Formats: sequence, structure tokens, C-alpha cells
Amino acid sequence: MQERLALLKNQALKAIAGACSIVELEELRVRYLGRKAGALTEVLRSLKDLDDAEKRSVGQAANVVKNELTDAFSKRLADLDTQSAKAGIDLTLPGRRRFIGSKHPLTIVTDRIVDIFTGMGFEEILGPEVESEWYNFEALNIPEGHPARGEMFGNFYLPGGLLLRSHTSPVQIRVMEKRKPPVRVIAPGRVYRRDAFDASHSPAFYQAEGLYVDEDVSLADLKGTLEVFSQEMFGTDIRTRFSPSYFPFTEPSAELSISCVICGGKGCSVCSHTGWLEILGCGMVHPQVLRNVGYDPEKFTGFAFGMGIERVAMIHYRIDDIRHFYSNDIRFLSQFREAW
Ligand code: DAH
Repeated sequence: MQERLALLKNQALKAIAGACSIVELEELRVRYLGRKAGALTEVLRSLKDLDDAEKRSVGQAANVVKNELTDAFSKRLADLDTQSAKAGIDLTLPGRRRFIGSKHPLTIVTDRIVDIFTGMGFEEILGPEVESEWYNFEALNIPEGHPARGEMFGNFYLPGGLLLRSHTSPVQIRVMEKRKPPVRVIAPGRVYRRDAFDASHSPAFYQAEGLYVDEDVSLADLKGTLEVFSQEMFGTDIRTRFSPSYFPFTEPSAELSISCVICGGKGCSVCSHTGWLEILGCGMVHPQVLRNVGYDPEKFTGFAFGMGIERVAMIHYRIDDIRHFYSNDIRFLSQFREAW
């Protein structure tokens, strides 16, 4: 009996070592240790025909063999597992992650600008990209003959007295014509100019226009609102500066600059050694503009501003060429994640 056990053990160990797959190994396990007809199980079953002394010694020996074989099976199983993993099959690996793309940096920045202003009570609105001269110029106090209106000066005219809007300011007129004050809106969108396509110009680009008209809106409201915007957009450590400017549709008019995000105001090549970066135009809505939409300038005042979204994005992300935004190079586009 002991001999039969020894033989069985050697046979089984050899077979286990030679098993080349998990399926084959499982077949062997059933053949040797299977509860119904396993070879070792048969031996244990036949113990009942032996006398007591033999029963004990063979029984013990059979148990030792059973444990050895069980061990050998699990070791071989582990080996086969790592082998299949090396061959590139690992059933425990998580599924493959799909590339789901990311938002365009201009979309991220537009969303952020709109978010900041809606947080201050502004409402997002949109206007058409094809405009009449009334909305693009006339109503904004840019009279006929004004240099900004000429084809030579960069507008894309269409048949029928229409043109591709050259700024988002006409959206101010559209919203004031339709609503009574208080009006508080932020209007992002694409604008067109006959400009060169170089590192800092593009014939199509984006702006965001802001307008707030009500009783008693003052220059202090304009300053406070744009200071909050600047800090939310570029960080609380930046400083702001308003300097006098001219736009036909605002009086007084100003330009807003922020302290240079690169050098902190010391002066570097990005800020042309001035320490300041200009980010938008703004001012108090001209009384003539209010009259043009039927508002009483004695009763209502307002402020307006317009910023280039590419410019804000270039400052925020430190991008030195506007053309990156439009070339659709995936190596560029995949670098942007929403950071807010
Ligand atoms: N429309 C101007 C431009 O495209 C920007 C601008 C300046 C808009 C002052 C405004 C403003 O609303 O008040 O250059």
C-alpha cells in the first residue's frame, strides 16, 4: 500500500510539473484529488478494508501525500498565472481607459470669464456674428466717415449693408433695445477684422463684452467690478491700473492693465519692460448711446467693457503665439485642463 502511495505521488508530481495550462492542471487535480474518482481518494476509501494498525500508518502517509500534492498544485497554478501575465494576458487588469478629449483652452477661459461675471449677477447673452452698420457702428456713436468704419480699416463687408461684426459691442445695443434697466450682461463671441495672421493677430478672434446700466451706476462700480474680475482671473497678488483712453461709445474711457504675471511688475520682454499688461477697454456708457436705445441719460448711467479672450488666455497660460489656438495640434490642445 505504501509503495502504491509513493508511486502515485511521483506520477502526480511529474504530471503537475509538466502541465502547460490552467485547464490541464485542473484536469490533473480532478484525476488525483477529485472527490469522486481521484486516485488518492480511492486509496483513502480502501482504508476501511485494512486492519487498525495498517489503517493508521497508511492513513497518515496518504494525508501527507495529499498535502504535498495540494501544495504542488497551488504552486504550479501561481507559476502558470505569472507566465500568462508575462505573455500579455492578465485577467486582473482594469479595462483600457479611453481618450475622451478635453476642452479647448479658449472654451475653458471663456467659461471662466462668464463664470466670474455671472457670480457677480451678470447674465450671459449672445448676439449675431453678421451685423448691420447700425448695431456695429452707428448706435455705438461711431458715425459714418469715422475711420473705424472703412473697408480699408479692416472690416469684412457683406452684400446688403451687412458686415461680420468687428467687436462684441453691438450686443450692448441689442440687449438695451429689448430690455429696460437694470441691465447686467456678459456677452462672449467671435469677431472679425481684416488683420494679418501673425503671432499676435488673427482675422477671427473672440471677445467678451460686459454691460451694466441702472440708476446710479458709477465709475467706482466699474473699477470695483473689474478689479474683482482681475483678481479672480489672474490671482489675488496682481495689481490693476486704469489709464485714460478713447472709445466713441464711452465717456470717460479707460484701459485696464494688470501687473505683469511674468515679472510681477519689474519689467521684462513680455510686458515690453513696462511692468504692465493691458487687458481690456472700458468706460461709462456714452449718453448718446443711451439715447440711441431710448434710455434717458439723465436717469440712467452705466459702464461697459470689452476684452480679447485670446489675450486673457495667452496671459493666463503663458502662450506667446495666438496661432496655437487655431492650428488644432493635439500636442498643444491636450495640455489644458480646467484649473478652477
Ligand atoms: N469694442 C472695443 C474694441 O473692440 C472694446 C471695448 C472698449 C468695449 C470699451 C467696450 C468698452 O464695451 O466700453 O476694441
